Amino acid sequence: MKILMVGSGGREHALCWAISKSEKCDKLYCAPGNAGIEDVAECIAIKAEDVDGIVRFSKENAIDLVVIGPEAPLVLGLADKLQDAGILAFGPSAKAAELEGSKGFMKDICAKYGIDTAAYARFTNPEDAKAYIREQGAPIVVKTDGLAAGKGVTVAMTLEEALQAVDDAMTGGVFGDAGSEIVVEEFMEGEELSFFALCDGKNTLALASAQDHKAVYDGDKGPNTGGMGAYSPAPVATAEIETEVMEKVIQPLADGLAAEGRPYIGVIFAGLMITKTGVRVIEFNARFGDPECQVLMMRLKSDLVPVLETASKGELEGHKLDWHDMTALNVVLAANGYPGSYEKNTVIKNLDIAASNEATTIFHAGTAKSDSGEILATGGRVLNVVGRGNTVKEAQKIAYEAVDKVDWENGFCRRDIGWRAVEREEA
Ligand code: AMP
Ligand code: GLY
Repeated sequence: MKILMVGSGGREHALCWAISKSEKCDKLYCAPGNAGIEDVAECIAIKAEDVDGIVRFSKENAIDLVVIGPEAPLVLGLADKLQDAGILAFGPSAKAAELEGSKGFMKDICAKYGIDTAAYARFTNPEDAKAYIREQGAPIVVKTDGLAAGKGVTVAMTLEEALQAVDDAMTGGVFGDAGSEIVVEEFMEGEELSFFALCDGKNTLALASAQDHKAVYDGDKGPNTGGMGAYSPAPVATAEIETEVMEKVIQPLADGLAAEGRPYIGVIFAGLMITKTGVRVIEFNARFGDPECQVLMMRLKSDLVPVLETASKGELEGHKLDWHDMTALNVVLAANGYPGSYEKNTVIKNLDIAASNEATTIFHAGTAKSDSGEILATGGRVLNVVGRGNTVKEAQKIAYEAVDKVDWENGFCRRDIGWRAVEREEA
């Protein structure tokens, strides 16, 4: 098969790495890719959001399957346009991807199909939102309706913080159009879990669980990021919890979207809160998580391509996947200053030495190669250093040993990725 991966992050490097090992893959392209992806795929200079460019390339090169990594091209309708052109695509239609693109839509679907999530109200007028917040009291959560790169959420512990968040989103223009509508919702207390499942429009197949660390600094302090590290499996996700998630969240969601005339093809990423009263949904994403995907791919024993293909064709029923029993743990190296402003094009050295242990894999996120072949940091989140071990503690040790060999003055990482799982393991 000729396969095209769309995207340029660590998630896409991990997917390309898994696809390139497949017996079914004869040729792999990535648009636009990064310096690490170059080692496993042919990178082509088309941006992930250039929907027409990707469709044209796919037609001209007789691509058999397009795997769409990030949410932006999904929301722009890339999967729809590929389908119209007769090209198989892994990723939801624009209408199905609204599950991630519009928090209001996601909340309405949960309410209609009986999926447990925080109580909520939608607002287009800041004064109405503030009145509602005063009535409910803190803690309370304020979210912009549209996509805001994971940064449009304020978990407000005080009333003042919540009222400020309304002003920032609706009148301050911090998030542009994404903040013209907001959702205000109940604060849920518990442990967070990311759960991934495939859907072919009708049938669903559980993948695996993971936990990520969204806060930028150790001890889960500081502003939220796209994710500073992740591990899989998540010890909090027992077999009972996985069954509960498939029966009470994933399958009702797949059935509901199909009933709404928006059948979902692709991966469903459920952000969950394990509370005292059971599993409740925080959010859905229409794609793999990043950095969660990297640890899932590390643990996947089965060939990835056949399952992507059967999901895209609506033929997932009966498909089974095998997983490695070990833990994979991913430490993100980010540019100093992230998630604020940071310097670009700084040089990274010693990646080969850092990845020399066979229990270590490094995926690139924001990198490019200079003309002389040096690896340059070009993004906020730059590298993913993944360690594998029989326990979380062992995987963590292996990952940090590799991190310490990377020579990059301009980067930093959290030193406590996996702390909750290590505590659980030691107890
Ligand atoms: P989201 O972008 O919706 O995943 O929100 C980002 C983060 O905010 C989540 O990972 C949670 O840590 C937190 N969060 C969002 N909604 C809630 C909620 N209703 N209660 C508690 N924490 C929340
Ligand atoms: N790591 C969270 C996300 O990909 O949204």
